[in-house]
Amino acid sequence: MKLIQSISLLLAGAHVVFSEQAPLSESNTEQTVEAFQVYQSKYTHHSIRIKQQNDTLCNAHSKQYTGWLDVGPKHLFFWYFESQASPSEDPLLLWLTGGPGGSSMIGLMQELGPCLINEFGNGTVYNEFGWSKSANLLFVDQPAGVGFSYIDEGTPYPGSSFTAAEDMAHFMQIFVSQVFPDLLERGFHITGESYAGHYVPTLGAQIVSQNILYPKRPQVNLESIFVGNGYVSPLDTAFGYWETLCTRNPGVKSPIFNSTRCDIMATHLPRCMNLADVCYKNPDPAICAVAETVCWKGVIEHYDGESGAGGRNRFDITAPCKTKDDFCYSEIPLIQDYLNLPWVWDALHVPKAIKNYSVYSEEVSNAFTVTNDIGISTQPQVLYLLENGIDVLFYQGNLDLACNTAGNLNWASKMQWKGQPAFVAQPKRPWKDGDEEVGWFKEIKTSMGVEGRETTFAFSTVDGAGHMVPYDKPKEALAMVMKWLDKRSYA
Ligand SMILES: *[C@@H]1O[C@H](CO)[C@@H](O)[C@H](O)[C@H]1NC(C)=O
Ligand SMILES: *[C@@H]1O[C@H](CO)[C@@H](O)[C@H](O)[C@H]1NC(C)=O
Ligand SMILES: *[C@@H]1O[C@H](CO)[C@@H](O)[C@H](O)[C@H]1NC(C)=O
Ligand SMILES: *[C@@H]1O[C@H](CO)[C@@H](O)[C@H](O)[C@H]1NC(C)=O
Repeated sequence: MKLIQSISLLLAGAHVVFSEQAPLSESNTEQTVEAFQVYQSKYTHHSIRIKQQNDTLCNAHSKQYTGWLDVGPKHLFFWYFESQASPSEDPLLLWLTGGPGGSSMIGLMQELGPCLINEFGNGTVYNEFGWSKSANLLFVDQPAGVGFSYIDEGTPYPGSSFTAAEDMAHFMQIFVSQVFPDLLERGFHITGESYAGHYVPTLGAQIVSQNILYPKRPQVNLESIFVGNGYVSPLDTAFGYWETLCTRNPGVKSPIFNSTRCDIMATHLPRCMNLADVCYKNPDPAICAVAETVCWKGVIEHYDGESGAGGRNRFDITAPCKTKDDFCYSEIPLIQDYLNLPWVWDALHVPKAIKNYSVYSEEVSNAFTVTNDIGISTQPQVLYLLENGIDVLFYQGNLDLACNTAGNLNWASKMQWKGQPAFVAQPKRPWKDGDEEVGWFKEIKTSMGVEGRETTFAFSTVDGAGHMVPYDKPKEALAMVMKWLDKRSYA
């Protein structure tokens, strides 16, 4: 499905610019274009158009806004919710769904948004465990081409996490300095899931380096990143398949695979690891394609080859895939139904350039495959963030295979930084939500030479949850986020 038909069909107001805009929080809001207010960056050719929404569209129990960031030929859709507690004091969270090509509306309406899709796909219900309970919460469909985000005809689809990060860093700068200047000094946290293990560290690194390069421009006050079941290191994810399927470690009564299959996988793992390592050192798509083939045939295929509609479920090793698509979540088609309803489009003021909303962009996914973005590790970006004093959390639903706990703990343990020996030596300790034991954690606090303060690197898990922790364990997921935001600690 082609998202863009013609430049001339773009919403008329998209490129209209007001040089001196009143901030949105002030009452002077006359300067609107087709129901939107438009904010132009003072530093770049970027602008944001924004519109207030109400609980009819999303039963959120706080103020909400939707709109698009126009970055030349790219147009990024966002949905912003003020905190339900104290919007003028609470931190700002940005959520990015993975993919590559997945719409962040999945995170919003299926997992952690203040409203969730209802069972008919024709409305929303309030989510008592939404993450806007005590944080300002922003969802963005990115990179351009995903969900309600679109690109003008003739512009190539973004093909890497780095391109995506450049656009998103500009977005955040305008958002906190011009649209909601009140947020400029507020603590900012980037979060997301799955392929966001690529997006989030890359965006974090881009923001830190831009802040350093341009100290006189508005600084985006990044305090931490936290990623759920992140896709960081493909090599380690493949390695983690054996532990996830052949041991009881994910929290299963007996291993998912029998010893015959486990023996075959173990036999092929060393060669898969060798080639994956060559790909990491020489990230040429041709070399990485060979590594992928060997890892697929020898290791991954034994499970993934039997997954999808009616088969196994990559996102929860204890559950079958009950839907007709490969997502295995019944909410996904409902979200798509809802976000394609004519009255919803009217409320959002969807530009004519968009023909249809889809939760997943195959074009973007393909563009990322071609550049081998999906074959590289973003561990170097995580390292860069720690070195610059940004706190980092990776959390895991232990029943996930696609981005499994074993694999993520593996790269986290191999990462060479000051905190490594202590991280490796530290035993896994249980963490609790009230009296309930939720999962285990490791966390290191060490001075990275930034403002004499300690930087935190943490890893926490949730038992009985698969790939989408806030969906499987909403109460525990919210508790986990609050502990992170409040104390950076699970102890
Ligand atoms: C949604 O669909 C259900 C079942 O068809 C119907 O009962 C309900 O009235 C619908 N709600 C809205 C808001 O259209
Ligand atoms: C092991 O599992 C595979 C796949 O489910 C099956 O084909 C095979 O027969 C099993 N082997 C034994 C010894 O149970
Ligand atoms: C709330 O938004 C809906 C569209 O989503 C609109 O029809 C309605 O007029 C709005 N209500 C108020 C009170 O603004
Ligand atoms: C919109 O896209 C969805 C998912 O790609 C598809 O199921 C639906 O048929 C499309 N609708 C139209 C009107 O093209």
